[in-house]
Amino acid sequence: MIMENLLKQAKKAMENSYAPYSNFKVGCAVKMKSGKVYTGCNIENSSFGATNCAERTAIFKAISEGAKEIDQIAIVSSGNMVTYPCGICRQVISEFMKDGTFIFEDNKGNIVTRTYEEIFPYSFTKNDLEKARENN
Ligand code: THU
Repeated sequence: MIMENLLKQAKKAMENSYAPYSNFKVGCAVKMKSGKVYTGCNIENSSFGATNCAERTAIFKAISEGAKEIDQIAIVSSGNMVTYPCGICRQVISEFMKDGTFIFEDNKGNIVTRTYEEIFPYSFTKNDLEKARENN
């Protein structure tokens, strides 16, 4: 129920998607451990590499406002399959999330939930760097 509310906020954010090149709209809502929710959409650019995904838009808003750790992430898209985070977003998410839940919805209303562990097997995190420092 609570996570469905997060999906609703992700859908609202998707309305602002700027995707004139791919026509693929994405919306994201991140609930931080503090309970506060931040939302974002994908923002494309004529120089394609400057495109920002919905997940990073939401997370950068959260971190720049002083939030620390992600609890839940909702991702929706205009695609007919659920949209899992891209490689760059996975790296950014793993910097600010240690556990918690993901919820996804496609354009037909199919909903999928995944745990942090399911989305992030074998991620590279700051813990790896800490271990490397201990070994020196
Ligand atoms: N996109 C996202 O916003 N999030 C994802 O997880 C996958 C891809 C965006 C980037 C681009 O604007 C469009 O979807 C097509 O790749």
